[in-house]
Amino acid sequence: MGICSGLNSTPWSLGRSHPSNPDFKRRACLHVTLGLSQQQKLRYSSHPVSVYIKTAMTLPAVKKVLVVGASGNVGRSTIKALLDEDFIVTALTRETSEGVIPESVEHLKSDYSDESLLQIFKGQDAIICAISSIIPGGALTTQKAIAKAAIDAGVKVFVPSEYGVDTANPNASAIIPFLKDKIDVVKFLKTQEDKMSWVAVVSGSMFDWGLRIPGFGGINVAARTATVFDGGDIPYEATNLDQVGRAIAKSLKNLAITQNQHVYINSFTVTQNEVVEALGRATAVKFALSQGTVDGLWEDSFAQVKAGMLGGTLGLIAAAIYGKGGLAHFSETNGLWNEKLGLPQEDLAQCVEAVVAGQK
Ligand SMILES: NC(=O)c1ccc[n+]([C@@H]2O[C@H](COP(=O)([O-])OP(=O)(O)OC[C@H]3O[C@@H](n4cnc5c(N)ncnc54)[C@H](OP(=O)(O)O)[C@@H]3O)[C@@H](O)[C@H]2O)c1
Repeated sequence: MGICSGLNSTPWSLGRSHPSNPDFKRRACLHVTLGLSQQQKLRYSSHPVSVYIKTAMTLPAVKKVLVVGASGNVGRSTIKALLDEDFIVTALTRETSEGVIPESVEHLKSDYSDESLLQIFKGQDAIICAISSIIPGGALTTQKAIAKAAIDAGVKVFVPSEYGVDTANPNASAIIPFLKDKIDVVKFLKTQEDKMSWVAVVSGSMFDWGLRIPGFGGINVAARTATVFDGGDIPYEATNLDQVGRAIAKSLKNLAITQNQHVYINSFTVTQNEVVEALGRATAVKFALSQGTVDGLWEDSFAQVKAGMLGGTLGLIAAAIYGKGGLAHFSETNGLWNEKLGLPQEDLAQCVEAVVAGQK
C-alpha cells in the first residue's frame, strides 16, 4: 500500500479516455511517487492521450459556501442554485451595499479588510466570487486579497469571478483589456493549489442579461431593431444567469473533475441571426435590421475605451462574443462540460419568449 493505493478507487479526471490497463496504472504510480504535481500531464505510450491524475490527493468536502458580491446578477443566481443543491449558504456584501439577499440566507457585511475577511471566511468550505468591474485595475483585482484571506482561513475551494468569455485563451486581454485582472487572479490561484483548489467557470455571453440591455450586442428588444455583424451567422456560446449559477453549484458537487480546471458550459450555441429570428417570432414583429462588422465594432469600442469612455467595454465584449479573438465559441475548441456536470441544455425560443414577456 502507499501513495498509489487509491488508483483503483479515486475518481479520475480525464482529458479524453480512461486508460484502464495495468501498465498505465504502473506509469501513473511512478509519476506520483516521483513527486510530480497532482495534475501532472502524462503522455501515455504511443497514444497522445493527455491524462490528468488526481490520485494522491483528497477531494475537499464542501458543505458551507459563501458568496462574495452576493447581491449582483451572478450572485443571486448562484445563491438560488446553491440552495437547490442543499449547500449551507452565506452571502457577503459591502457595508454600503443596498443589495437584497433572500431571507433564508445568512447575510454578512464587510469592509473587505484582510482581518474582516479572515474572520468571516473561517469555517467556510468554499468561496464563490461574483464581484464585477469593467475598469482595468478595479474591483476584480481585490480578488487576490480575498483569495489570500480564504487560504489563511482554511477555505478549500475558490471560484473566481469569471462567467464570461474564455480568459484561458491567450488573446483575451488584448481583445478586452480588463480581462487581465481575471487572468491574474487565476494565475495566482494556480500557485496556491497545494493550499486551496479553484474552479473557473467559462460561460460565454450572458444571454438573458444581455438581451435586457437595450442595444447590447446590436440588439434592442424594445425598439425591435438589430445590427447584425459579419452577416450574423457566427456561432457563439450563450448562457443564461440561472445556468451559470447551476454550473457553479454543480462544479462544487463534482470537484473530482472540476478542481483546478476551467469549466466550459453554455445554455446553447447560437448565431446572431438565430437570436433575431427567435425575437421576431416571440414579438410577432419583424426586427428592423442594419449591418455592421465585428472588426468595426471592436475598433470603435476600443477607441472609446482609450478615450476614457468606459461604455465602450460593452462593445468590446460584444465583438468578442461575435467572434473577435475566438473567445466565445469554446464548444468547438475546448468541448462543453454540461453533460459531465448534469446541466440541462436550454431552449433558445423559450428563453427569448421569457425575456420578451418580462419574466426573466
Ligand atoms: N460575459 C458576459 O456577458 C457577462 C455579463 C455579465 C457579467 N459577467 C461577469 O460575471 C461576473 C459578475 O458580474 P455581475 O453582472 O453579477 O456583477 P454585478 O451585478 O454588476 O455586481 C456584483 C456585485 O459586485 C459587488 N461589488 C462591486 N464593486 C465592488 C467592490 N469594489 N468591492 C466589493 N464588491 C463589489 C456589488 O455588491 P455589493 O454592492 O452588494 O457589495 C455587486 O452587487 C463578473 O466577472 C462579470 O465580468 C459576464
